[in-house]
Amino acid sequence: MTRAEIPDQLISSFSEFISSLLGLHFPHKRRQELVRGVTSAAQDLGFNDVSSFIHLVMSEKLSHEQLNFLTHHLTIGETYFFRDKKLFQALENHIIPQIVMSRRGRIRHLRVWSAGCCTGEEPYSLAMALDRVLPTPKDWRINILATDINERFLQKARQGIYSDWSFRVLPDHLKQKYFRQDNDCLFAISPDIRKMVTFSRLNLIDQTYPSPLNDTERMDVILCRNVLMYFAEEPRAQVITRFCRSLAPGGWLVLSPSEGDFARQSGLVPVNFSGVTVFRKTVPDQTYPASSSAAAKLSDHPRLQAPPLDVTKDYYREMPDQLKGRRPQTVRRLGEDADRDASKPRKPVGLPDIQVALPVDQPVCQSAHSLAGQARECADAGRLTEAADWCRQAIQAEKMNPAHYYLLSSILQEQGLLDESIKVLKQAIYLDPGFVLAHVAMGHITRGLGRLEDSRRHFQSVLALLKSMNKEDVLPYSDGLTVGHLVDLVRSMIPGE
Ligand SMILES: C[S@@+](CC[C@H](N)C(=O)[O-])C[C@H]1O[C@@H](n2cnc3c(N)ncnc32)[C@H](O)[C@@H]1O
Repeated sequence: MTRAEIPDQLISSFSEFISSLLGLHFPHKRRQELVRGVTSAAQDLGFNDVSSFIHLVMSEKLSHEQLNFLTHHLTIGETYFFRDKKLFQALENHIIPQIVMSRRGRIRHLRVWSAGCCTGEEPYSLAMALDRVLPTPKDWRINILATDINERFLQKARQGIYSDWSFRVLPDHLKQKYFRQDNDCLFAISPDIRKMVTFSRLNLIDQTYPSPLNDTERMDVILCRNVLMYFAEEPRAQVITRFCRSLAPGGWLVLSPSEGDFARQSGLVPVNFSGVTVFRKTVPDQTYPASSSAAAKLSDHPRLQAPPLDVTKDYYREMPDQLKGRRPQTVRRLGEDADRDASKPRKPVGLPDIQVALPVDQPVCQSAHSLAGQARECADAGRLTEAADWCRQAIQAEKMNPAHYYLLSSILQEQGLLDESIKVLKQAIYLDPGFVLAHVAMGHITRGLGRLEDSRRHFQSVLALLKSMNKEDVLPYSDGLTVGHLVDLVRSMIPGE
C-alpha cells in the first residue's frame, strides 16, 4: 500500500497514539518519516496492508516483539563516542572533579544514568571519562545505568562492538587504550569499561522512575541528549520532572545544546562551563551560582558532603502486598490508627516506610512504629547515624517485622555501609522469604559490588516470586508498573544475561 492510500485522518490519529506510547512527536513536517517507519515495520512483520497494521497497533494488540519492531523503525539511532567534545571536557574538568571532592571522607560511590543511550557509545564514553579522571578508579564504586526503549540498540550496546563510524571524533590514543581490534573494521570495547555499564530497557514515557526497582534514584549525573527533541511538549516536561526526582540533591542533568530550554524550570539551575550549559538540582535553602568558578566552591558545601536522602517513594509507603511477598488473608497496616481520618492526607515523608501487612491477630507495636518514624525523619534530614540508631531500636521493639530491617538496610546503603546493609537485608529475607523488594535491593547491591553470581541469584528469586502473578496486572501504587514490566526490568539487570 502506498502513502496515498493511508487516509490522512488515520495518520493523524496514529501520530497521536505514538506520542502517548513512546513520547515521539511527528508534527506535520515529519509525517513522511512516520509513514516510512510504519510502512517498513508492517512489511518486515509480513503485513501487506499498512492501514490494517496501524489499526492493529492502535488497538494495542501487538505482541511485545512486534512492538519492539515498530519502535525500532520509529526511533533514530544516530550517536558516536564523545559526541559533543566540549560537554565531555566540562564533565572531565569540572563536573566529575566536583563530585569527587564532595565525596572526600565519604563513601566513594558515583551514580550516572545515560537515558536514551542508543547503541552504547554515550555510556561507554562516560565510563572512559570516569576512568580517565578518577585518581584511582578501582577504589570507586561506579554505577552507570544505560537505558533505551529500542531493544535492538540495547543488544548492540551490550555486545560493545563498533565500526569506524562510531569513532569519528575519538582520538586515536583513546581508541587504542580502550578498544581491541576484532577484524579490519570492527573494534571491541575493553572488558573493564564494558563491566562499568548496565544496560536496561526503559521507556521514558512510562512512569516507572525514580524507583529502587530499576535503580533510577539518587543519580549524580543524568545524560539525556538528543532524545527529548523528538518528544512532544507535554511528555517532555513530564520526563524532565521525573529526572529532577531521580537526581540526588546537587546532581546534574545534561541535555544537548539545542535542548537546554526544556530544563528551564524550577528545581534546576543552569550552570555554564565555557559555553556548555548543564543543569543542577538545587538543595533546599541553597542557591547555586551560575558560573563555573563559583560552582567549583560548591564541593565544600556541607550539604553536598552529606546530602539528605532523596527518596520520595510513595510506593514504599503504600507497598502492594504482592511486592512485599506475603499476602495475608486479613491485614492491618502497621501504624495505621484505627480512628485516623482517612480523608486527611498523611504527612509526607521521604523515606521508605514499608508497611508490611500483618495478620490482624498479630499485635501491632505502636512504639516500634514511632521509633521507625523517628528513623525516617532523621534520615530525611541527613542525620544518618541517628537514623540508624532509631531504626535499631525499632527492631529491638519488634524483632519479627522485616520492614524495619529493610528500612535499616536503606539507611546503611546511604551511609555506604554495604556489607552491613547486606547482612540486614538477609535478616529481612529470613523473616519473609517472599519479600520481593529486599531481593531486588540485594540484586542491585551485590551487582554494584561485582558479586555477579549473588546478584544473579537474587534477581532470579524475584523472577520466581513474580512467576505466579499475572503479567498484565498493574502493581498498585507503582505508577503504572506492571508485573510484566518488573519482570523485564529484573531480567535486564541480571548480570551476563
Ligand atoms: C538520537 S539517539 C541519541 C543517543 C545518544 N543519547 C546521543 O546523544 O548520542 C535517541 C535515542 O533515544 C531513544 N528513545 C526514543 N524514544 C525513547 C523513549 N520513549 N524512551 C527511551 N528511549 C527513547 C532512541 O531509541 C534512541 O536510541
